[in-house]
Amino acid sequence: MTEENVLEALKHVTYPGFTKDIVTFGFVKDVLINDTTIGLTIDITSSADEVKAQLREEVNTELKKLGFDTININITAPQAPKQMSNSVSGKNIAPHVKNFVMISSGKGGVGKSTTSVNLAIAMAMQGKKVGLLDADIYGPNIPRMMGVADQKPEIQGNKVQPLKAYGVEIMSMGSLMEPGQSLIWRGSMIMKAIEQFLRDILWSELDVLVIDMPPGTGDAQLTLAQSVPVTAGITVTTPQEVSLDDSRRSLDMFQKLHIPTAGIIENMSGFICPSCDTESDIFGMGTTEPVAKEYDTNVIARIPIEPAIRVGGDTGMPVTYHKPDSQTAKRYQEAASNLLAFIDKVNAEGGADNTAVQPTTPPGVSACSTGTNASSTPADNNHNSGSCGCH
Ligand SMILES: Nc1ncnc2c1ncn2[C@@H]1O[C@H](COP(=O)(O)OP(=O)(O)OP(=O)(O)O)[C@@H](O)[C@H]1O
Ligand SMILES: [Mg+2]
Repeated sequence: MTEENVLEALKHVTYPGFTKDIVTFGFVKDVLINDTTIGLTIDITSSADEVKAQLREEVNTELKKLGFDTININITAPQAPKQMSNSVSGKNIAPHVKNFVMISSGKGGVGKSTTSVNLAIAMAMQGKKVGLLDADIYGPNIPRMMGVADQKPEIQGNKVQPLKAYGVEIMSMGSLMEPGQSLIWRGSMIMKAIEQFLRDILWSELDVLVIDMPPGTGDAQLTLAQSVPVTAGITVTTPQEVSLDDSRRSLDMFQKLHIPTAGIIENMSGFICPSCDTESDIFGMGTTEPVAKEYDTNVIARIPIEPAIRVGGDTGMPVTYHKPDSQTAKRYQEAASNLLAFIDKVNAEGGADNTAVQPTTPPGVSACSTGTNASSTPADNNHNSGSCGCH
């Protein structure tokens, strides 16, 4: 009996509450085999007694099936998560939100908003308290996609009550402006708007706030990363090489901003024909995997081109909620489970920390100023060059 046989067998044990098994999560460690005696460690992310008991029983059953008669299972307690306060984890201007997820892409129109909507709804359907912030100040699409385009949020004092649909709290610049109005704002105003969306919206005690970003790597991304510790970053891309080039920039940004990368979502990956339900390759498929490897991350979902997704977006009836049995809805649900597992892992390892990306310039001096010798690269305080994270 080898360690490989044991790991193979333990793949039948899923982590309670998730679709993935304990081996895939990397929780099984220090396997020691001596004839019919086995010892191993399970290093889990939850300290709940019922989770431990369930795992112990299921692992025991699998190991007995392999013929072991003396089984020593050591379940280790998780590392205490770091307290999410300004002094420990850098800055957090929305401390009542437990986790922040940034949905990003290098290129426009690849499906960030669609992904944000469907992931947020999938997590809410899995029992989490979820919010969805449309940080695309110039091109807010979330109200239409969530079916709340006609609603105006309630103002309470100088705070704003988020809208709600499909079990998800929602806020967008689109809900605060008249329809069709355009905004012509400077970068500093975008930064202010993002801060207000975090500080002045009456979000509940959310498990996850999903943040739909504008395309690219600019002021909005930097401000968000500096204002709250972002627990997970997801890059959305389409499979064509030109889009992949841009997605590398987005992944590089996560690294520079110290945002743990949950993975890539390959959107418009193949086409599911509505009449015959077969899947065909239009923009390519599976081209994203090598990019994920380059950045030491995973492709957490492949979402096909499906007319129902576009219709769902246009009509405010998202596919995950309205067609829960469709292939696409199932893929969004799986992506949501992967994301939640990733968030658990990040928190078990101490949580996100944005200390390293705080501006180092004194108050009143622009971080973009190259005239001073202050370290002006917020993402990398070791560089004293004039290169600036804002550009
Ligand atoms: N998998 C898909 N199948 C079919 N249509 C899709 C799919 N993903 C997105 N779309 C459609 O493509 C269009 C662009 O998607 P979306 O608005 O989500 O992209 P985006 O990256 O947020 O764009 P922007 O950069 O402008 O904010 C929308 O009309 C949407 O309904
Ligand atoms: Mg968008």
